[in-house]
Amino acid sequence: MSSGFQAPRGIPDYIPPRSAQFQAVRDTLTRAAQLAGYQHIELPIFEDTGLFARGVGESTDVVSKEMYTFADRGERSVTLRPEGTAGVMRAIIQHGLDRGALPVKLTYAGPFFRYEKPQEGRYRQLQQVGVEAVGVDDPALDAEVIAIADEAYRRLGLTDYRLELTSLGDDTCRPQYRELLQEFLFGLDLDEETRQRAEINPLRVLDDKRPHIKDATADAPLMLDHLSDSARGHFEQVRAHLDRLGVKYEVNPRMVRGLDYYTKTTFEFVHDGLGAQSGIGGGGRYDGLLQQLGGKQALSGIGFGLGVDRTLLALEAENIAAAPDSRVDVFGVPLGEPAMDKLVEVAAQLRGEGVRVDLAYGGKGLKGAMKSADRSGAAFALVLGERELAEGRIELKDLNTGDQQSIPLDSAAVVVRERLGR
Ligand code: HAM
Repeated sequence: MSSGFQAPRGIPDYIPPRSAQFQAVRDTLTRAAQLAGYQHIELPIFEDTGLFARGVGESTDVVSKEMYTFADRGERSVTLRPEGTAGVMRAIIQHGLDRGALPVKLTYAGPFFRYEKPQEGRYRQLQQVGVEAVGVDDPALDAEVIAIADEAYRRLGLTDYRLELTSLGDDTCRPQYRELLQEFLFGLDLDEETRQRAEINPLRVLDDKRPHIKDATADAPLMLDHLSDSARGHFEQVRAHLDRLGVKYEVNPRMVRGLDYYTKTTFEFVHDGLGAQSGIGGGGRYDGLLQQLGGKQALSGIGFGLGVDRTLLALEAENIAAAPDSRVDVFGVPLGEPAMDKLVEVAAQLRGEGVRVDLAYGGKGLKGAMKSADRSGAAFALVLGERELAEGRIELKDLNTGDQQSIPLDSAAVVVRERLGR
């Protein structure tokens, strides 16, 4: 019988054993960032609503339709963070990190909230690992950020994914392109809603999935053909760096991201085994964001957000495990209280040496305890009965082969570690 309570709609739980895979994915993504010198930042789960409205953009779906916004008890409007970049900028400004050594390289991990229509791979609480590198506008840094994500996915064992890359230009070429695109769009026979979109955010019309709009915009002017010399130069250097790093990519000149702050290099990682929600990560450069949020200097930044939920789904689609299924390496089976007292000691010693150990608690008999040992996924059981205890010995059972041997009790920890190859 269900108690009646359910997690809120569209909000996933990660329970064992899948939670171990989830955690391993998140750790691997984070580790890749740490290897490139990104330091951890822990951000608030909710912020001033204005931060996201200004940072992410009023015209985006994320801000206009998907935010969890509420008044706190002091009547301040706060919002559960829908993404991480705006919060990182706020923290950089608030703590003056932009006045220290540049670039500021930060990484974060945690939940974000978007009131989207839930489906497989699209959740209202989503998990990301992100990085932001702020303060240096160097194409080599763009390539570094992209390569970190690529390396992390490869380390997890993923192969069935693509990297799409484009440039969204800078403030010397984007305004002109925007006008050019609007001119083109206003020449089409568009419904009222699409026309309004063309007015507010014309790029988004290029992302319209309806066939007749796709057909009508097939010949629309593309940003990539109208880049300023400096934006084109930047993009070419990013590509050259990626080539040198051996990171494969496809240029997708029609890529449209759901957030407004992007300039120049913009990218998305797409997995082919995921159906509609195929974006496993994405990011890009953002020239004006820091200043727009109150930063004293016009510092550029670049970063990504990698979707942990979707990366896990991608691993499952490719049949890859990110972590061992077992929750322990060794399972102790004490028969009687004196045996329990001794095994508790052995377990503590092994745990101290980094071996994962659990015991059969609750005075289970041999049969029940061995069943627990099998279920735990442990490679070995240590079985200690009264007779063995009296003789100073213990039974070491290989749970995969069933082989059993009697070993001296006082060297149990050493032997177990040897057998585990530690
Ligand atoms: P984003 O593309 O909105 O970028 O999200 C990044 C990733 O989060 C997506 O590629 C996807 O894997 C995952 N994601 C987004 N929404 C959902 C959802 N509803 N359910 C499951 N997964 C989801 C950003 O958030 C930017 N802040 C990234 C960035 C950092 N750009 C520069 N710096």
